[in-house]
Amino acid sequence: DRTRAIMICNPNNPTGYVYSREELEALRQIVLENDLFLLSDEVYREFVYDGQTHTSVMHLKGIEDRTIMLDSVSKRYSACGARIGMLASKNKEVINAALKFGMARLCPPTIEQVATEAGVDTPQSYFDEVIREYTERRDVMVKMLREMPGVVAPNPKGAFYLVVKLPVDDADRFAQWLLTDFDVDNETVMVAPANGFYSTPGLGKEEVRIAYVLNVEDIKKAMNILRLGLKAYPGRTR
Ligand SMILES: Cc1ncc(COP(=O)(O)O)c(C=O)c1O
Repeated sequence: DRTRAIMICNPNNPTGYVYSREELEALRQIVLENDLFLLSDEVYREFVYDGQTHTSVMHLKGIEDRTIMLDSVSKRYSACGARIGMLASKNKEVINAALKFGMARLCPPTIEQVATEAGVDTPQSYFDEVIREYTERRDVMVKMLREMPGVVAPNPKGAFYLVVKLPVDDADRFAQWLLTDFDVDNETVMVAPANGFYSTPGLGKEEVRIAYVLNVEDIKKAMNILRLGLKAYPGRTR
């Protein structure tokens, strides 16, 4: 009874999941039946692989006044740190309220605003190249992860993350151990324990999120370090 909105992240951080048109239509139905808003964080919408297409909630019919799309430039142009976020909605009340909040705060940085405006003209060829590169990085990482005994790695269709199941007692402890107790020729890897992404305590205990934002050679090196780390970790379970 207290639910006012559904919020999704599509393509998803941390799983890389991309919602299908059918799933979005189902959400549309739930929104209508229960008098809800639908918020969709689509900052990774250009990063969709294997010929899949991304459907924005802005294209769902009949819920235009209930739909809010959240966006940022930081992923699109590999400009993390650029403080330029935005929202889009056809609901004028929402936009007016957001504008008031915007004016009550300090303005976003001027130089990044100018750069963002110029970024609108980025040719599709840039994104084609980026998608080709990310696909290769994902493929290399997934292949190497699947070759490690006891590791379960999905092959997500979007964003640049994987949530991977590892044969460890506690992914948090394993992530710390990699940083404090393990190295290969003075190098190690850092992974994000996935339990923090779940709202249910206890879930994700054996899972980590890995981002494939390094170049292919560095990914190969990192996966080799992870493989050796899993072998040497005292809390290995399988
Ligand atoms: C799904 C999602 N939305 C928003 C952001 C943040 O964007 P910004 O860099 O504009 O703060 C991130 C960054 O990790 C993200 O993964």
